[in-house]
Amino acid sequence: MTAGPVILGLESSCDETAAAVVEAGVRVRSNVIASQDELHAEFGGVVPEIASRAHAERLTPVVRAALDEAGVTLADLDAVAVGHRPGLIGSLLVGVAAAKALAWALGVPLVGVDHVHAHLYAGALDAPAPPDFPAVGLVVSGGHTAIYRLGSWLDVARLGATIDDAVGEAFDKAAAVLGLPYPGGPRLDALAQTGDDRAHDFPVSRLDSGSLDFSYSGLKTAVLYAVRGTPIRDAGEPRFPRDYTALSERDKADLAASFQRAAIDAVLLKLRRALEGEGDARALLVGGGVSANSRLREALPGLAREFGLDLRLPAMRYCLDNAAMIAGLAHHRLAAGAADDLTLRAVPTTAC
Ligand code: KG4
Ligand code: ZN
Repeated sequence: MTAGPVILGLESSCDETAAAVVEAGVRVRSNVIASQDELHAEFGGVVPEIASRAHAERLTPVVRAALDEAGVTLADLDAVAVGHRPGLIGSLLVGVAAAKALAWALGVPLVGVDHVHAHLYAGALDAPAPPDFPAVGLVVSGGHTAIYRLGSWLDVARLGATIDDAVGEAFDKAAAVLGLPYPGGPRLDALAQTGDDRAHDFPVSRLDSGSLDFSYSGLKTAVLYAVRGTPIRDAGEPRFPRDYTALSERDKADLAASFQRAAIDAVLLKLRRALEGEGDARALLVGGGVSANSRLREALPGLAREFGLDLRLPAMRYCLDNAAMIAGLAHHRLAAGAADDLTLRAVPTTAC
């Protein structure tokens, strides 16, 4: 006996190959993630061609592991879901092709899901009750930083987004400037715990007074100059007078803590603005890799309380890219009759 449709979700949009089995949209029966961090570390970022090849090699074993862990067989699946946008096109294609093949062979519906919207769903996984709508959503990841208004899981309107770098990308770049290994976001978070977050007064981007957009390029440059000094512009390319090797461990921790304060304060500032404008909101849905950040996780409950909102902050295992959030959101698309067919395409951009 199952409590609702059993959906296999696939995720291959960037550098995680993931498969999960979710029942009734909330009960996560398995959540398998094969990270490619070790393949991209030497390049300091994701190399698209390496990522797609690794997805192609890993997807079948990852699906098998997800089915085994869930204690189901292919015959038990009611639908196959896939994150088909946004992402690296070669990576997306691996998941989309696999999902189509499985859905066709099993004669079950195929459901395409927007990966960014699925991040908003992550906090609803394993929860005893669904959130009430309307809701305000915040996605903070390596590729996206945006605020949404949701009338339902399927009615998503973007209120603001980054005009340059995503917050996770800024974390990764600041970490690289500090000499921390890839992926730097979590390592910078750990280092920041030991530093003084007031040691440097880095800029918190505000943009126009009513703007719900974000900007991280100024902060990134401020950290770069604080670590390497102001570039020397004589003959040829600008040169920096020093690099992170000139810093003490104490300096590095102070820089990390001060960067983290500015980066997270900018998120909280825009989120507060959005909440002030969405007075009828009942819930606050947060997701994406940076929702694992300690400073953000510490601040969000207070903000939600202040606005009387039901905060849905994902468990750590659902913050980073995973397929459980894909299968979970797919449940609602399926229930609304919004399944796809074999013409489903991989699309590099988010739907909104
Ligand atoms: O959601 P995600 O797995 O991938 C995208 O959809 O982009 O997010 C990955 C991002 C990376 O930039 C990573 O450095 C960042 O999330 N991240 C963190 C933390 N954990 C992961 N950033 C700050 N603090 C963390 N604890
Ligand atoms: Zn993501």
